[in-house]
Amino acid sequence: MNVLITGGSSGLGEAITRKFAKEGHSVYFTYNQSESNAKKIEADHKNAFAIKCNFKSLDEVEALKTKIATIELDLLINNAYSGSFMKSHFYKISTDDFLTEFQDNVIPTISITQAAIGYFRKKKGGKIITILTSALVNTPPAGSSIYVGNKAYLKQLSKVWASENIRYNITSNTVSPSFMLTNFTNDIDERVIEQIKDSNPSKKILTTEEVAEAVLFLSSASVQINGIDMIINSGTNII
Ligand SMILES: NC(=O)c1ccc[n+]([C@@H]2O[C@H](COP(=O)([O-])OP(=O)(O)OC[C@H]3O[C@@H](n4cnc5c(N)ncnc54)[C@H](OP(=O)(O)O)[C@@H]3O)[C@@H](O)[C@H]2O)c1
Repeated sequence: MNVLITGGSSGLGEAITRKFAKEGHSVYFTYNQSESNAKKIEADHKNAFAIKCNFKSLDEVEALKTKIATIELDLLINNAYSGSFMKSHFYKISTDDFLTEFQDNVIPTISITQAAIGYFRKKKGGKIITILTSALVNTPPAGSSIYVGNKAYLKQLSKVWASENIRYNITSNTVSPSFMLTNFTNDIDERVIEQIKDSNPSKKILTTEEVAEAVLFLSSASVQINGIDMIINSGTNII
């Protein structure tokens, strides 16, 4: 399978890149700041190929889109997120900040996914997996309004991708992990991390490898598995 993952050089994305590469898939993964790590991944896996793509650069996003046909893409994994989990309380955040983070995250994801769907429709098949967050189903933490708002937007889009494209053998599913230790969460206080661990029914913090395993499962699932959201939070809430 030919896989494209955004933000595949660090955190959860790195775990997914390495997992798919170990399984023998050709993995094209983007990086922004993690260039040295991207080189390490390429050195470790002969079938993993790094592509520089900063979501804030229109040229780099456009260049990435042109690669979709060349690599004969089978699976797009929307993983990259630029921005932070926590900001101030909603009423204090400027509307410009909402617009900027939407522009930096949702718009590039839309643009890349449009290109992938255009290609998938021509070849009558393909899969899209989008990484969301379990904060969409749990009580959202204070200060997370921009982040959960953007993820909620992608969640609804992902459902539309699922319904509009299934007749072309294209599926779209989402994965919603709970808290993981990555660069994204490295400014969270140790005591808060202990509380998160304690409130998890398994009393364990979710690992990036566990989520990568779930993404791998979805990548080989039948077309009957379409439009689902796989929540990974040890059953914190069972819906
Ligand atoms: N950690 C958690 O607790 C948690 C929980 C639920 C969902 N998630 C989701 O999991 C996904 C991965 O996050 P993570 O936890 O692995 O954090 P992370 O290590 O910070 O990963 C974020 C990824 O996005 C990329 N990125 C950042 N800014 C970018 C930009 N301007 N242009 C292009 N790519 C950019 C980064 O690339 P570089 O490193 O190369 O800059 C990195 O690979 C995100 O969608 C996040 O919302 C995380």
